[in-house]
Amino acid sequence: MANPDKMVPDNVSGEFFVDTTCIDCDTCRQLAPDVFADNGEYSYVYHQPLTQLETSEALRALVCCPTGSIGTLHKSTELKTIYQDFPMHIDGNVSYCGFTSPKSYGGSSYFIQHPEGNWLVDSPKFLPHLVNQFIAMGGIDYIFLTHSDDVGDVDKYAKRFNAKRIIHREELWSQPESEIVIEGEDPVSIEPEFVVIPTPGHSRGHCVLLYKNRFLFSGDHCWWDRDKLQLAIPTHYYWNKREQRRSCEKLLKFDFAWVLPGHGQRIFLPITQMRQEMANLVKRLEILQAYR
Ligand SMILES: [Fe+2]
Repeated sequence: MANPDKMVPDNVSGEFFVDTTCIDCDTCRQLAPDVFADNGEYSYVYHQPLTQLETSEALRALVCCPTGSIGTLHKSTELKTIYQDFPMHIDGNVSYCGFTSPKSYGGSSYFIQHPEGNWLVDSPKFLPHLVNQFIAMGGIDYIFLTHSDDVGDVDKYAKRFNAKRIIHREELWSQPESEIVIEGEDPVSIEPEFVVIPTPGHSRGHCVLLYKNRFLFSGDHCWWDRDKLQLAIPTHYYWNKREQRRSCEKLLKFDFAWVLPGHGQRIFLPITQMRQEMANLVKRLEILQAYR
């Protein structure tokens, strides 16, 4: 529960506020970009909601904040119904789970409803609401884990749904009882339309999931930089920068239109434009000594 006595000083005055427990994970800025902004160390309210849409988006951010750092000065009657917005539809049979976990530093997770078995990509908080929603959508058969940082409450989901966890050998220490272990650096087809692609760099055993040659669940390998309007990679936390560049090059061989990351902005572009954006990212990395 956010504390109005601990508001960050940057909030504009009004109903919504962020308090000092914020970990600057970006969840609120993804869900309500017209309300929340980043000062480099934490999020704050830069514009109080004026419309019903802005209010609903701010309330979605409030319920999904991993640290409960967003509050309102008065109790909202909408709060009970706002939970029903999650999982939030993205495209086709892919949804964003919301309710990011502090265990994964607010990493995003996704749900794929598929006739041959449903997939969870990384893990949200283990909440009765999400459990009930997943049951209503047919349960969970596979849980794909991009890397060790974003496992969240995956053990609880795996146990509740008897789901098979998929993780690379190099990240297995974080989920040692995982049922499917990816080896080496070659892409692996788990089911038709689902390809796990090892992308070492951010971490030694980081993998991304390509679904339907349309959706790339990119974990912490890459995301869309909403300020520079280009694909970007993490620069502060990484295992090996040269491998990170090579993993970006590897993705040039694959078709996808969506990049759905663990952190940072998701993006949809036509496949040819997405490939060009990835090529541009590789070029930017090639001129940096550390990535050669
Ligand atoms: Fe990470």
